[in-house]
Amino acid sequence: MTENNSVKIVTIGGGSSYTPELIEGFIKRYDSLPVRELWLVDIPEGEEKLNIVGALAKRMVKEAGVPMEIHLTLNRQEALIDADFVTTQFRVGLLQARAKDERIPLKHGVIGQETNGPGGLFKGLRTIPVILDIVKDMETHCPDAWLINFTNPAGMVTEAIFRHSNWKKVVGLCNVPVGMKMGIAKALDVEPERVEVDFAGLNHMIYGLNIYLDGKSVTETVIEKITSGDSSITMQNISDLGWEPGFLKALNILPCPYHRYYYKTDEMLAEETKEASEKGTRAEVVQKLETELFELYKDVNLSKKPEQLEQRGGAYYSDAACNLIDSIYNDRGDVQPVNTLNKGAIGSISDDSAVEISSIITKNGPKPIAIGDLPVSVRGLVQQIKSFERVAAEAAVSGDYDKALLAMTINPLVPSDTVAKVILDEMLEAHKEHLPQFFTKSAAEP
Ligand code: G6P
Repeated sequence: MTENNSVKIVTIGGGSSYTPELIEGFIKRYDSLPVRELWLVDIPEGEEKLNIVGALAKRMVKEAGVPMEIHLTLNRQEALIDADFVTTQFRVGLLQARAKDERIPLKHGVIGQETNGPGGLFKGLRTIPVILDIVKDMETHCPDAWLINFTNPAGMVTEAIFRHSNWKKVVGLCNVPVGMKMGIAKALDVEPERVEVDFAGLNHMIYGLNIYLDGKSVTETVIEKITSGDSSITMQNISDLGWEPGFLKALNILPCPYHRYYYKTDEMLAEETKEASEKGTRAEVVQKLETELFELYKDVNLSKKPEQLEQRGGAYYSDAACNLIDSIYNDRGDVQPVNTLNKGAIGSISDDSAVEISSIITKNGPKPIAIGDLPVSVRGLVQQIKSFERVAAEAAVSGDYDKALLAMTINPLVPSDTVAKVILDEMLEAHKEHLPQFFTKSAAEP
């Protein structure tokens, strides 16, 4: 820890529009988590945003009266020195790259999906080499730090770190389980603190296996509320299409909002095609939202997180992040859903794979709570996505074209090997500048 047992946090991708969420979270928890130094790091292309969001961060901290120093820098190595926690929230290629991830597959009748569709594959190919570089820097400058990754595709990125580096102190984080818990509380019309959920699966492929209200099982009641159309659980970025009641009742566990892409593929494709032509793909919508947000952030009289930020899909993400950091720092032993090594917690997923699962959070990291196995009805899909993540991570590390084709083809949203190749080739070309591993031949090769 830094001086006086206070905490140093480094946020990579600090110029993100989500940063005020994080600042708000650290301010709220300052008494139990004394963040004395927060370093916001970005790349030269993000400098303007970093300065705007950094100035807002400084105003927020001043208004709250907490002694948190905010440092802004483009020098990652310098920032990392003696960090206690490193959070990552960057987007290689910015939102323009996400727009391509969504548009190109759509042109070929396939949902792009920036996390677990073809878009997710390409986001992984662009991101994994960068995160592995960050890990190398951490080995040199802050070997005892925890890496808390929110960069999507969070499951694939966590998998890649465990499989393709020696770094062990990493936790992948997502707001989907928190969002589900809030949605359940709303459906039951109770305070979220009274609700507990046993979560298990993978990132954006997570299920609520059991739901409890004040310790009593209410899984069927929640499913009933959803199937009757009384309530619905989704995120800002996912169309709220209703579930087939008989399907959900027979499933008898709660799918996450992202499961609509797999169980309602045709309807989601039609919806996304319509939205893309009417108002743009999600990335295009978010680009406009970002411009508005940064205009607000520039206001020197603004010293709190503006409400408009809640229109982003990442709502509650700061709560998830700050709760996790607080629990590791204070060795709380509470239960939180995170991406961590399976270690036998879910049968039929290998022990050395990353899973997203309710875990006990201690100073030594998350301890996943064993659930035995997933119901047979969902096991295959979860394994399929795990295979996709693993093959995609291998493609990202090796720059091997055939592995990338394999990953694209085994993705459940992609209908055939021929379509996979067409999309792959077009996306490789479109993202060329961010995929050096596929285009730079080593000197030894002809
Ligand atoms: C959800 C996901 C995040 C994702 C976000 C996108 O919350 O859990 O992983 O980054 O949506 O939201 P956006 O507003 O960028 O579409």
